Amino acid sequence: MKMQQITCLADLEKVAIEKLDPNINTNFQTGAMDNLTRDDNRKAYDRIRLIPRVLRDVSNVDTGLSVFGHHFKSPVFFSPSASQRLAHTDGELAASRSACKHGVLYCLSSLSNYSIEEVSNCVSDLTQNGENSSVRWLQLYMFMNRSVSFDLIKRAEEAGYTGIVVTSDAAYAGRRLGNIRNNFKVPEDLSFGNFKKYDQEEHIQSYSKENPRQLHQNVNYTKYAKDPSLNWNDIKEIKKFTKLPVLLKGILNKEDAALAVDIGVDGIIVSNHGGRQLDSVPASIDVLPGIVKLVNKRIKVFIEGGILRGSDVFKALAIGADAVFVGRPVLWGLAYDGEKGVDLMLDLINEELRLTMALSGCKSISDIDSSYLYKGD
Ligand SMILES: Cc1cc2nc3c(=O)[nH]c(=O)nc-3n(C[C@H](O)[C@H](O)[C@H](O)COP(=O)(O)O)c2cc1C
Repeated sequence: MKMQQITCLADLEKVAIEKLDPNINTNFQTGAMDNLTRDDNRKAYDRIRLIPRVLRDVSNVDTGLSVFGHHFKSPVFFSPSASQRLAHTDGELAASRSACKHGVLYCLSSLSNYSIEEVSNCVSDLTQNGENSSVRWLQLYMFMNRSVSFDLIKRAEEAGYTGIVVTSDAAYAGRRLGNIRNNFKVPEDLSFGNFKKYDQEEHIQSYSKENPRQLHQNVNYTKYAKDPSLNWNDIKEIKKFTKLPVLLKGILNKEDAALAVDIGVDGIIVSNHGGRQLDSVPASIDVLPGIVKLVNKRIKVFIEGGILRGSDVFKALAIGADAVFVGRPVLWGLAYDGEKGVDLMLDLINEELRLTMALSGCKSISDIDSSYLYKGD
């Protein structure tokens, strides 16, 4: 497919499917079990209707916004996804460069192929002239060997990352049937960049043998298995450990949103992990209204899952999200054409957002509110 024929992110998905190794594609696409939640993430956006205002001079529309003191050119941020080199050899480097050029936030997975430091270094030429600034957060898994997780936070602080996103919905990996059928494993040559430092440290190598709980985990991850005992006290500990904003990713229940506010985290990402964890949970956009109401602007509320169009972004912001994250679209952009493919993904969705704002009568992100949601009256 020629570049001009890629008119939207759904087209980008099609070209990515043509290009990708089928097992890698399945790994990107699959949700858990019957994909009920993954598919509902998309369908739920289709059910929402907008009601525009007209005659409002929309000759200048600004998609810029500020979060935790940083300015962004658009509210479309990058969800963390493991092993981005599966999509393109430049993996996280290409994706983070694209995010930097477009003035949006890049969230690096703990399980990235390129390390925390390599990703920081690769954007330094783009930020030197002062035109671009790179805002990066680190997604954190709590590993069985907790000193690894805490060391990752320290490394992120030292490398100029400005937020820690603790994934809360992945005590165990969901049952992703597509991957199980394919016996999918990340190829041996795609190592996890952040762990190279610890691989040389003997105590971690012996750790996996001693700890039987690791038997629950996917074989690829045994050495760095996630700790399923992660709980609210650990989040308090992480808050004490770092001065950076701490966010919880994977919140769906209002009660958990309330606890997050109570213990003083800085933000939550309303998410069901792209439908890859517990199947049958609601679409993230369907739980957003209740959570936004409960949080009542006390902390930041972000959302991800199923966002493909500028109008989806608009709908999420109209319900009350501060910004959104996209996961799979980044991987499709990488698969299509590395950094340029991710540029295309961002250009398409950002232009759709700008147009949705203009045609709704909104000149700025702060103009977007629930009055643009059609409630049937
Ligand atoms: C291939 C793949 C790998 C992922 N890896 C991680 C990860 O390492 N850590 C994490 O917190 N979430 C991970 N996620 C979940 C994403 O951060 C995000 O929640 C999800 O992709 C959002 O839904 P969307 O793909 O519909 O935009 C991954 C998702 C995919 C598709």
